[in-house]
Amino acid sequence: ANHRPLHGRRILVTAGPTHEPIDPVRYIANRSSGKQGFAIAAAAAEAGAEVLLIAGPVALPTPAGVIRVDVETAVEMEREVAAGLPVDAAIMVAAVADWRAADTRAQKIKKDGSGEVPPLALAENPDILASVAKSDRRPPLLIGFAAETNDVVAHAEAKLARKGCDWIVANDVAADPMGGETNRVHIVSNAGVESWDRLPKPAVARKLMEKIADALETRAPI
Ligand code: C5P
Repeated sequence: ANHRPLHGRRILVTAGPTHEPIDPVRYIANRSSGKQGFAIAAAAAEAGAEVLLIAGPVALPTPAGVIRVDVETAVEMEREVAAGLPVDAAIMVAAVADWRAADTRAQKIKKDGSGEVPPLALAENPDILASVAKSDRRPPLLIGFAAETNDVVAHAEAKLARKGCDWIVANDVAADPMGGETNRVHIVSNAGVESWDRLPKPAVARKLMEKIADALETRAPI
């Protein structure tokens, strides 16, 4: 067997949450640990790929052989992803915040004791996956993730069409809560749905690399 089936390939991975600042001491975030995305970056490097990992704020070590760029916000992530193209495959695992504070305050918002609650207006963040799908440097293989709590496959099928990617890797975060060690994923594409058993996140990553190597096999490297 070929142990480095992604040798000569460039792969971009996004991972982790984003933090969207409200003021210098507060931010909007989510429960993403970055574990699945980091495991994917590690498995891609082990499979021989040149890997660029764009990571939101997480407390994880950089996997061996991976080039890592740390970002905080969705807007920063979008910029670093664009700078990382072209690639043979992009795997967008990050749990990007859908909204950011419409205006970030330069000074800490003070609780003045009046009992009045400050307003918090939100603005929509760019959809990085959808914009990469539309760009003229769209990778030949573009993969999105979908964390759902219900109707996992149906939501993933809708997301595949809406985002314009090739595969959606969907997981049920009600069954495998975010931050855990395992995932039970469904690979949703125009070819249909492939459901895998519950596996440790590194095993999901390795299996995904086999599938990516197969999908890229007939394509010349970028
Ligand atoms: O729409 P939803 O956030 O569920 O889609 C998840 C997929 O889209 C993931 O692959 C995620 O990395 C990507 N995404 C993105 N930019 C956003 C929101 C989601 O790239 N602003």
